[in-house]
Amino acid sequence: MEPARRYKNDQSPMNTDDLFSFDADQGGASDSSSSRIVQLRRQIAHHDRLYYDQAKPEITDREYDALYRELVDLERAHPELLVSDSPTQKVGGRPQGGFSQATHLVPMQSLDNTYSAEEIADFVDRLHRLLPEEEIPLTIEPKVDGVAIALLYEKGRLVRAATRGDGTVGDEVTRNIRTIGEIPAILHGKAPAVLEVRGEVYLPKETFARINAERDEQGIPVFANPRNAAAGTLKQLDPNIVAERKLSAVFYGFGAFQASADAPLPATQQEFFHRLKDWGLPTDPKIWTARTSDEVVEAIRHLGEIRRGFPFETDGAVIKVDQLAQHSRLGATSKAPRWAIAYKYEPEQARTRLMDITVQVGRSGVLTPVAELEPVFVAGSTVSRATLHNEEEIARKDLRIGDWVLVEKAGDVIPAVVKALTEERVGSERKFRMPELCPVCTAPVNRTEGEVAVRCANPGCAAQVRRRIEYFASRTSMDIAGLGEAVVTQLTDARLLHDVADLYTLTEEQLLPLERMGEKSVGNLLAAISASKEQPLWRLLAALGIPHVGVTVARTLASSFGTVDRLAIASIEELCAVEEIGEIMAAAIHGWFRDPAVVQLLEKLRGAGLNFGEHDPASSAPSAEGPLKGTVWVLTGTLSISRDEVAEKIRLLGGKVSGSVSAKTTYLLAGEEAGSKLAKAEKLGVKVLNEEEFQKMIV
Ligand code: IVH
Repeated sequence: MEPARRYKNDQSPMNTDDLFSFDADQGGASDSSSSRIVQLRRQIAHHDRLYYDQAKPEITDREYDALYRELVDLERAHPELLVSDSPTQKVGGRPQGGFSQATHLVPMQSLDNTYSAEEIADFVDRLHRLLPEEEIPLTIEPKVDGVAIALLYEKGRLVRAATRGDGTVGDEVTRNIRTIGEIPAILHGKAPAVLEVRGEVYLPKETFARINAERDEQGIPVFANPRNAAAGTLKQLDPNIVAERKLSAVFYGFGAFQASADAPLPATQQEFFHRLKDWGLPTDPKIWTARTSDEVVEAIRHLGEIRRGFPFETDGAVIKVDQLAQHSRLGATSKAPRWAIAYKYEPEQARTRLMDITVQVGRSGVLTPVAELEPVFVAGSTVSRATLHNEEEIARKDLRIGDWVLVEKAGDVIPAVVKALTEERVGSERKFRMPELCPVCTAPVNRTEGEVAVRCANPGCAAQVRRRIEYFASRTSMDIAGLGEAVVTQLTDARLLHDVADLYTLTEEQLLPLERMGEKSVGNLLAAISASKEQPLWRLLAALGIPHVGVTVARTLASSFGTVDRLAIASIEELCAVEEIGEIMAAAIHGWFRDPAVVQLLEKLRGAGLNFGEHDPASSAPSAEGPLKGTVWVLTGTLSISRDEVAEKIRLLGGKVSGSVSAKTTYLLAGEEAGSKLAKAEKLGVKVLNEEEFQKMIV
């Protein structure tokens, strides 16, 4: 469907021939179509007001789009009912194919860069020339390498979030920003009447490493660095995907600031830093103060020592005049303020030799080429291997075995080969070719049209089996202590494990003869494996390697379906009805449960006694008796304790917890900021309780 704003410059919206071509029913509107059109226009206008003016949407984007589409279809079928003030004819409605634009109250400028101690001294000298005879205290902050963002708080309420864009106008990304748990929807304490707070959205380095590993595993192109990953994530139109990626943010400045009696303008950057903390906004972990350029250089050196420990990437330091009164007197050029400057650290790179390119096989069979490097020290540690992601990447960089290459750490964590130093070639370097047979099991490899990934076609491939078991046992999955890479390799090499279910039939007799397996470690390992049978359902779902199912989705599936069996028989429509599950995900999950090998594996795991949710108080299976027996609950909004805990309470008292509101729902428990579920419950006449009413009910 075309976006509504396509009609922006149309001078005669009533001339429908320009807008639509009609092959549908031309025969005049029935009463029911005409009243439905009126109803839809009213509903859409209502939801536009909630979304744009009050930033309190009550329905999901998908629900909104369905209403909008229905109206467009009806207007197409009944052009005689089209009017110029229909929401389909107006500009500035909710964008269908992108973000709307937001004008910053104060333009977002950039900073001038410096690269040396001399340039810092020049900056400090210039300040003293501009403000002669004055003390000019300075602050030094980390320069966070994220995506610049401006949040607009009115009377302490977050009403809008926008990217920098061209500095004057940016993309309005409020919905995506609201998924960042650390950003308060309401400022704590006393807030100014208007506050446009500035900072950076970033993807934590650890998350970046995990997402890239997953993308490699799925054969999707990786993000070059956390900044690109954060920018790509913010541009997602589906806030559920943003929520899954777990962005964070850091704030350091402001644009508009309309003080109120109990929230005056701060006098210094230092004071503002503390105010940010009081408002509950995340800040830089540390800032420094200085008076001379030597002190500035010392602070930058110290920051350089500790910055790798920060969860975000830093590409430098920002030096600012501390007194805000001095800011206004120093002013700005058209591009940057005169009261601040950035110091950029040299990106740390090292030269080394690409000794070989080996090929690794992942848990879903994707073949990943890996650079085997002559060990070299870079950005804090020794690097000897780096993933090269896929064949195309190697061709794009024209890497050859034997080349001298430059390496760095992407996002400070992941070793990466930047480029080949082609001028150093001597002629003996060799081109790399992806093998036609799996290097581990020698099965033929598959290339899927349009995908960069090459896959080993044999699900029984020893490498795939090993990786699936490692993943199953890992900390975020079943969390089986003592079952790391080395032990899994040992057990698969000894042919004791062929799939994850074999873990549960391992015996002391099988393990004791193995190397480094004393009685104590065997006892501990078997106890840890046995204890994992009791892990909550979401952990099992996260561990199975169901496509698209990470920890967050696994938790949602567990609380929506309650048991493996109910999830396994769910239709695509039922899966889609769960708030965080889109169509692609639903189809993949549905398909996975219908794979005969999966059915067999699940039966083995059930036989081994794993928690499939049937007897799990923490799953949706209600306990047989209890005051809430026979009731179906849906939880929404922010509650004072975690939703998992509330769900567990309800189940222990005999109630059932479901992920989505339907006619079968008995109660909706609505916390702060409840959204579309609340609207749906009200529409269906479902009884809505707040937390206080809920507490009264269960005592
Ligand atoms: S102050 C008038 N402080 O770096 C601009 N910026 O390269 C005032 N940045 O545009 C910006 N960390 O997006 C400031 N502690 C920090 C920062 C920071 C990162 C970004 C910001 C800025 C860009 C300049």
